[in-house]
Amino acid sequence: MNILAEELNSVLDGTVAGRLFSKLGRRIYFPKGIIAQSGEAKKHAHVANATIGMAFKDGKPLILSAIAEGMPTLTPAEAVTYAPTAGVEAVRNAWKKEIIRKNPSINPDGFSLPAVVPGLSAGISYLADLFLDEGDTILTSDPSWDNYALIFGERRGAAVQEVPFFGDADGLNIAGIWDAVAKAAKTGTVRIILNFPNNPSGYAPTKKEADELTALIRETAEGGADVLVICDDAYFGLFYEEDTYKESLFGRFAALHERVLAVKIDGPTKEDYVWGLRVGFVTFGSAGMDGSSYDALVKKLMGIIRSSVSCANTPAQYLMLKTLEDSRTAGEKKTYYGYLEARYRKVKEFLAANPDHPILKPLPFNSGYFMSFRCTGIDAEELRQELLSKHGVGTIALGNKYLRVAFSSAEADQIEGIYRTIFETAAGMK
Ligand SMILES: Cc1ncc(COP(=O)(O)O)c(C=O)c1O
Repeated sequence: MNILAEELNSVLDGTVAGRLFSKLGRRIYFPKGIIAQSGEAKKHAHVANATIGMAFKDGKPLILSAIAEGMPTLTPAEAVTYAPTAGVEAVRNAWKKEIIRKNPSINPDGFSLPAVVPGLSAGISYLADLFLDEGDTILTSDPSWDNYALIFGERRGAAVQEVPFFGDADGLNIAGIWDAVAKAAKTGTVRIILNFPNNPSGYAPTKKEADELTALIRETAEGGADVLVICDDAYFGLFYEEDTYKESLFGRFAALHERVLAVKIDGPTKEDYVWGLRVGFVTFGSAGMDGSSYDALVKKLMGIIRSSVSCANTPAQYLMLKTLEDSRTAGEKKTYYGYLEARYRKVKEFLAANPDHPILKPLPFNSGYFMSFRCTGIDAEELRQELLSKHGVGTIALGNKYLRVAFSSAEADQIEGIYRTIFETAAGMK
């Protein structure tokens, strides 16, 4: 094993992160190669910096006019230079400040500096690299975002165990989740990814459920298991109901117990309406870790980043920074939230006026971009095809059980018509 990997492992051995590493997680290191040496030169080479493969003239990077004119608010350095492996420092600091602002009860000193990754999917994939070997199990919700199966299952060869998160009652099936976690804990290690607001159900926990999930993770750790809990906060902030827990569970898990490693995956993709910008953040938190172990763990992540995409896209990071600093952003986000909330309310109105459909039962939903129906007696994929081919209505079938509707992408005045079509089509298929 490389000596640098051994050094990082020796800092992390004895922490929950050290115990949770995959074989790749143990092997990976951040080389003292081009990037590290160039970083040192950036600080100290006051005569000439001949380290990195970029091209400069008069102290500025060379830039083609079409690029410069296409990004008129960015300087050449913001537009075309390489970003540091874990992201532009100012962007990382600004996002950390945002996490603290959006989560008033989080301990500001209890988590790492966020590292920038090229979108949340990439971040999840990097965590799979660090913490899952072939044959390991990760728990997630049933239903869950289909990319989890691809990332953890197909890519890493891990077993993705979908736990029925929604029973017949309203809200989360806490007993079922508890049972699945307790079973996994018997192996000594629990890995779980929680995604709230959830894709595809559109559900986020109530305050009471947040307490119950916190108790579950605490008791699991107290029982002696190491717990990796990944909070996929892609849709954070889009909460539409009073009793929903409006902070990330990451803040709670990060402070719980030294056997709990909490990881927050978040970013502007959905929250700030920049789906194609490809910026995401990975943040670590554990009651058993401190500054030096966070540094070592972020270095491990940097090894994963350097060995795959090398670094995330620089102009996207600076655009993000400008967005966070722009005085118009908060007002515009409030307006956009209002659009989504109005669409959500229209869906709720329709369902209240048309209860007890014989085939379609909505899963609980209170947040995010989506809601889903559980289909009984007909195949969700057949319903999707019928809606598309006969009525021109596009929806998503998840297996043969669930039909997902993205109310986020329909206008409020289209909602009633869309849902009426879905209801009538499903009823006609029985
Ligand atoms: C639950 C969830 N996590 C992560 C992502 C991925 O975000 P990104 O586009 O930044 O990779 C999505 C996108 O649909 C999602 O639904």
